[in-house]
Amino acid sequence: MLIIREFEKQDQKSAYEIWKYGMAVDWSQGLFEMSIRCTELILLPFILQLLLFFLGVFSTPEQGNTILIAACIFWFGFLKMFSKYVGHSYVAGRTDMLDIEKNHGKRFIVATTEKQPEHVIGTIVYVESKNEEKFKGNRLDGKTWIMFSLAVCPNHRKKGIAKALLKHLEKLAKNENVSQIMFDASSPQKAARSFYSKAGYDHENLSFPLERIATLFGTSIEQFLVKKYFKICKIESFNFYKKIKK
Ligand SMILES: CC(C)(COP(=O)(O)OP(=O)(O)OC[C@H]1O[C@@H](n2cnc3c(N)ncnc32)[C@H](O)[C@@H]1OP(=O)(O)O)[C@@H](O)C(=O)NCCC(=O)NCCS
Repeated sequence: MLIIREFEKQDQKSAYEIWKYGMAVDWSQGLFEMSIRCTELILLPFILQLLLFFLGVFSTPEQGNTILIAACIFWFGFLKMFSKYVGHSYVAGRTDMLDIEKNHGKRFIVATTEKQPEHVIGTIVYVESKNEEKFKGNRLDGKTWIMFSLAVCPNHRKKGIAKALLKHLEKLAKNENVSQIMFDASSPQKAARSFYSKAGYDHENLSFPLERIATLFGTSIEQFLVKKYFKICKIESFNFYKKIKK
């Protein structure tokens, strides 16, 4: 049976691992899938082949094909590594998750099972917004909770765990007289976007916060490359919203 409860100190390791997987592995995979659908990026090996042909680097079609195959393997391998690097750098930049108890405390909710209560299989966090929130251009009244870091262990997905975590959060919000729950997701998070829509959340498209996200990456060269990559892949951000019924 599923247990949903507040975070406890001993959950740190397993909660961190699940969140890390969701952000680094799932997110990078989504980013890679977007990049290989991006015309500018997939055409590069073909452009290289043409360039080398005009420079007279190869003389037979067989040599040209070998160069093209090698360039494709190298280029798609590079894109895969680069998306992984972006995901892992994001995780490294989220130092709040290294001490969940201190930084999120009771606002961090975990899912475990009766069989293995010490083993976290799902996570969700909320924070009360201090800003004046807007949705689709309208100013929102009342308390707003911002939800983030929803993740479910890969072996336990599609069993209703995220649904149960979100329901639990909505119940807490109702008890605390919260008017709405909001959160954002980006285009590489396809599963999450589909899940949120099924959970009855409305959404609006926002421009991806390139500048803010880039600050999570080390040197200015890294930040420059990551921003370029996100721009080429046309990453978008989505703001999700649900009114909590009194
Ligand atoms: C998104 C995520 C949390 C969903 O967790 P989950 O426990 O598998 O979701 P549930 O089993 O509760 O699914 C609830 C609904 O969402 C749908 N859903 C879940 N994953 C889906 C997917 N990959 N594609 C389409 N729909 C999906 C389910 O079909 C289900 O719909 P139903 O109620 O009509 O049956 C999980 O895939 C995950 O951890 N992803 C990586 C982390 C992430 O991206 N987090 C979001 C941060 S913004």
